[in-house]
Amino acid sequence: MRDIAHARKLAAHHLAEPLPRRWNHVQGVGAWAEQVAAAIGDQEDVLATAGWLHDIGYAPDIADTGFHPLDGARFLRRAGIDERVVCLVAHHTCAQLEAEERGLGDVLAVEFPRERSEIADALLYCDMTTSPDGFPVAVPDRLTEIRSRYGPGAIVTRFINRAAPEILATARRTEERMAKSYALV
Ligand SMILES: [Fe+2]
Repeated sequence: MRDIAHARKLAAHHLAEPLPRRWNHVQGVGAWAEQVAAAIGDQEDVLATAGWLHDIGYAPDIADTGFHPLDGARFLRRAGIDERVVCLVAHHTCAQLEAEERGLGDVLAVEFPRERSEIADALLYCDMTTSPDGFPVAVPDRLTEIRSRYGPGAIVTRFINRAAPEILATARRTEERMAKSYALV
């Protein structure tokens, strides 16, 4: 199902208490995704639903492999969430590259087909323009913060270094689409 209110409740249920900072981030991404969806013309609530659910795999009662896009997507599939949303969560923000760093590249690719679309781009954009505390942030600053939070040599830092060019290009494409849509109004 693609139900924004349900997605918000589900995310709150699993994240708000055990991971309040992560929940702040998710609230920022979810609310921002609702606005970006209106700007880029997502009629079907896919982007907003995925925005609210994208980090649910961090929840202690959902985490399994420790790779949150995979754990979250598996959980959401079991919970009957719309398959398109499930796959967007599985591959959010260049997750395939991080999966490869973790030796899970084939697992992720086989279990969840990757959607390449304006909606997938926009989900990355919302995630990468929202700080860990849920506030707006520029993409380069977000990348710097992630590198310093995890530290040199960490898997996530290696992943971010590899993914940075794609993240920056994807965010730029989405900003251009939003600017175009505002210009049409
Ligand atoms: Fe996120």
